[in-house]
Formats: sequence, C-alpha cells, structure tokens
Amino acid sequence: MKKFTCVHDIGSLERALNLAREVKKDFFAHSHLGDNKTLLMIFFNSSLRTRLSTQKAAMNLGMNVIVLDINQGAWKLESERGVIMDGDKPEHIFEAIPVMGSYCDIIGVRAFASLTNKVADYNETIINQFIKYSGKPVFSMEAATRHPLQSFADFITIEEFKTVAKPKVVLTWAPHPKALPQAVANSFAEWMNQTDYDFVITHPKGYELSQDFVGKAKVEYDQSRAFEGADFIYAKNWSLFNGPAYGTVKCVNRSWMVDEKKMQLTNSAKFMHCLPVRRNMIVTDGVIESSASIVVPQAANRVVSAQVVLKEMLLSL
Ligand code: CP
Repeated sequence: MKKFTCVHDIGSLERALNLAREVKKDFFAHSHLGDNKTLLMIFFNSSLRTRLSTQKAAMNLGMNVIVLDINQGAWKLESERGVIMDGDKPEHIFEAIPVMGSYCDIIGVRAFASLTNKVADYNETIINQFIKYSGKPVFSMEAATRHPLQSFADFITIEEFKTVAKPKVVLTWAPHPKALPQAVANSFAEWMNQTDYDFVITHPKGYELSQDFVGKAKVEYDQSRAFEGADFIYAKNWSLFNGPAYGTVKCVNRSWMVDEKKMQLTNSAKFMHCLPVRRNMIVTDGVIESSASIVVPQAANRVVSAQVVLKEMLLSL
C-alpha cells in the first residue's frame, strides 16, 4: 500500500478486519518487519491518540520513529506557489517535503482543514502535496476531509461490540463551543457506507455533510427518532459545510447533547466518540461513564488500525 487516505486504499473491509484480528492475536508477530525502517510523523495540529497509538504501532513492528511538530520548533511552512515569501514563513513546503522524505521510509501527516478555504480543504491540498513530492508512502493521521485511521478503528470496534449481524449505527451531530472540521464525520460515514449496517446520520438542519460522504445513509433531522432502536450512537460535532458560512458554527444547540434520556430510546446502544470529547457539551458525565460507553476500547483500537496500515506499507517497500 503506497497511500492510505480513505477507505478505498485498504481494500475490502472483510480483508481489513481479518488483518486487524491478526494484529490483535499477536501484536509482536512481525516485530522485525520494520527493522532499519523509519517512520516520520508530521503534525500540523495537536494530537494525543494519533501520536501515541501510531508510534506504538510502529514500535510493535520494530520501526524507528521521528515526530515533527511543524508549529513547535520547526520552520513555518508556506504552501502556496507564487507567494512572495516576505512574511513569517521562511520555508516552502516544496523543498521541505522532499527533504523530509529523504530522512524516512514512510510518512504520516496530520493536517486539518483550514475551514476558510473550502476548495483547498476538499482538494486535500496539503496531504496530496506530500503524496506527490515526498517520494515515500504517505498515510493520513487526519487530513482536511477524512480521518481514516480513526474510522478503521471505529469499524473494528463496532464489529467487536455488535450483538446483531446488521446493527443500527447512528452518527449524531452534538454541540461544541468551537468550529470543527467535518473530517471525522465524513470519514465515519464513508466507512459505514461500505458496510451493510443500517446507517443513519442525524443533525440540525443546515449541518448537512457533503453528499459525497453521506452517500446511501439515511438523514433524519429528528434526533430522538434517529436514536430509536439504535445499537451504536456515534457523537461528533462538525461545522457548516454548505454555503458561504463554510467552516463556521451557526448555533451551539445544547439540546443536541447525548444524555441518559436519549440513550434510553436506543436498543441499549453503545456510546462512541473519537475523543477528545467535551463533557456536558457533547455527552453527559453519566453517559460517558456508563457501561454503554466504549470510547476507551475504541481509542485502544487506534493501535490496531495503525499497525495494519504500517504493516501493509512496510510490505510494499
Ligand atoms: N481521535 C483522535 O484522532 O485523537 P487525537 O486528536 O488526540 O489524535
């Protein structure tokens, strides 16, 4: 595998799940596959889970790991061509990317959406520049429009916790004080649409996601109705996608928080969130601390998804 930026890069979900199960059976079965190979993890944005889980996965495979935080200690990077570089960015990404590529064998990139330039965001300008100019396999550690390592871990988690063959999975918008990208929601929808689950998206009117990601999902504007009979509730905030208000927040509608009363409408649903989560904004203390909450095993599966992807990339070197 030369790149991993979306669900289509991993092959069939059945195969991906089998690879994940193999990893979970023995995390150290291929502990020499990465001998003398270096992973470079580049962060344009903060991270806890992605940083730790991906590093752990690489270590399980015997890789060396270099982590670079672009905004903390590295030169600020210009990404536009033709810009007169007389501002605060002393290095251009066109030189920086091949240089970084020369120091490693595989590159992971985290580069969130700007939320100000929809065209650049939805063209995935930053990660595509790494794919084009680094000369190395590149995987997304959350890009502008997708977070595939997260979605892969989400899928593994649902398969582990489901009690019926085709569960009802509900992605619900939930309130947040800041404008967040659509990447996690887009990506989750993209992966769920590859399954035969009963997949429903619920959000306030105006928060429609790109139809490219909604796909065949049912959109239900009544959150309570969406929750009825659900086996999994996946909460996430995202900012506006449509119209000139792209990337902004229309309202912080606190009535959309996931609470105990809403969870009672479900089929004893499990509660999921990619984390970090704002308690008593997105979800109540009571729900996230209940036995229904599987956010910790969900996060733990980030090692598994990263290890599958890194293993596939190492095998293709
Ligand atoms: N879910 C997730 O990607 O977490 P981090 O932002 O902490 O990496």
